[in-house]
Amino acid sequence: MDLFDKCAGFYSDPKVAQKYGYPTNPRTVQQMGMFPYFIPIEQAEGPEVIISGKRLIMIGSNNYLGLTNHPKVKEAAMEAIRKYGTSCTGSRFLNGTLQMHLELEDKLAKFVGKEAALVFSTGFQVNLGSIPALMDPEDYLITDKEVHASIVDGVRMAKVQKKVHVRHFKHNDPADLEQILKSLPPEPAKLVVVDGVFSMGGDIAPLPDIAPLCRKYGARLMVDDAHSLGVLGGGRGTAHHFNLTEEVDLIMGTFSKSFASIGGFIAGREDVIHWIQMFARTFIFSASLTPSCVATVLACLEVIEQEPERVTRVNAIGERMRRELRAMGYQIGQSQTPIIPIVIGDMMKTMKAWKILLESGVYTNVALPPAVPTNMSLLRTSYMASHTDAHIDQVLATFDKVKHLLEAGN
Ligand SMILES: Cc1ncc(COP(=O)(O)O)c(C=O)c1O
Repeated sequence: MDLFDKCAGFYSDPKVAQKYGYPTNPRTVQQMGMFPYFIPIEQAEGPEVIISGKRLIMIGSNNYLGLTNHPKVKEAAMEAIRKYGTSCTGSRFLNGTLQMHLELEDKLAKFVGKEAALVFSTGFQVNLGSIPALMDPEDYLITDKEVHASIVDGVRMAKVQKKVHVRHFKHNDPADLEQILKSLPPEPAKLVVVDGVFSMGGDIAPLPDIAPLCRKYGARLMVDDAHSLGVLGGGRGTAHHFNLTEEVDLIMGTFSKSFASIGGFIAGREDVIHWIQMFARTFIFSASLTPSCVATVLACLEVIEQEPERVTRVNAIGERMRRELRAMGYQIGQSQTPIIPIVIGDMMKTMKAWKILLESGVYTNVALPPAVPTNMSLLRTSYMASHTDAHIDQVLATFDKVKHLLEAGN
């Protein structure tokens, strides 16, 4: 068998696709015009995009504060390119640290209320590198069952590199976490990792219950705030939202959502951040964040201070959408944020709903098996501070139409 045979099969043979977790061959679905992924966007202006020459309302972006097109943010990125060029072309360890990186780390640490912060080139790399860096053999890693893939992979890496023990607790279930913590030997070091806001469900980790358990059983607590920054706690994240900044030991965040860029960071006690800086392989063996990205995030931090109404606005839109979608009879799970999943269930029905939305001028994301369990296919909708009331009215009217068409079996 040649290594590439499966690739040819995956392209053409539904049985091979099924073997690798896809219900059918993606190319076939694409030919039917029902493939909801890799759709090229021709123009993006925040809440509106142009696809195949048609203007659509975007409700599938993580641009929560609508800052990707903010004039101050764009100008800061361009000025950084003029001053430093397009790349640092090296690791932070060597030639890749600019004064700006240090300024950003200082500002991020203050923003989330921690002693120090360390900037990585993606959020994925933060979790993939920091988690194994902190662990020793025989330590315990305990995560919520629904944490983001980057935490899943960080944990896998820790298992391979450091031979740690791994446990998972039921989603947002502190009682199950306590059962696990109680069952572990007291001596080994322990790290509990959760998402602050879960990226698919839009629900919030119950930190007021989780943090005391971590203290009680001697575990450190790390929170992934990718979807909380800019949204919860006046934009400062989940720990701030619950007034638990001291109790959360490590806060990680990404720049690929509210901070209108790419990159990520981890913040915590100074000696711990210094340790991560010296041991996280994804930090050391990867080129540093580009000057334009650093400048973008610095500008976003300023805009968040100067325009706090953006945080209020995105939450108000989230609240209205949750209320009105529920009133229409949609299942939106436990969402408490501007991330609102709409569970349709059946895969074909979900793709149909997605297509009606697209044809009616609304772009959203779809999560299908294997990304979600069978019969739990959903539309992952998310909102931005820059959506106007007219956008939201149109989105709601379209969801009303989708509901009727699906019920009528069209
Ligand atoms: C919860 C969570 N953590 C981490 C990441 C990774 O972030 P990045 O896009 O910066 O690599 C994401 C991105 O989707 C995420 O949703």
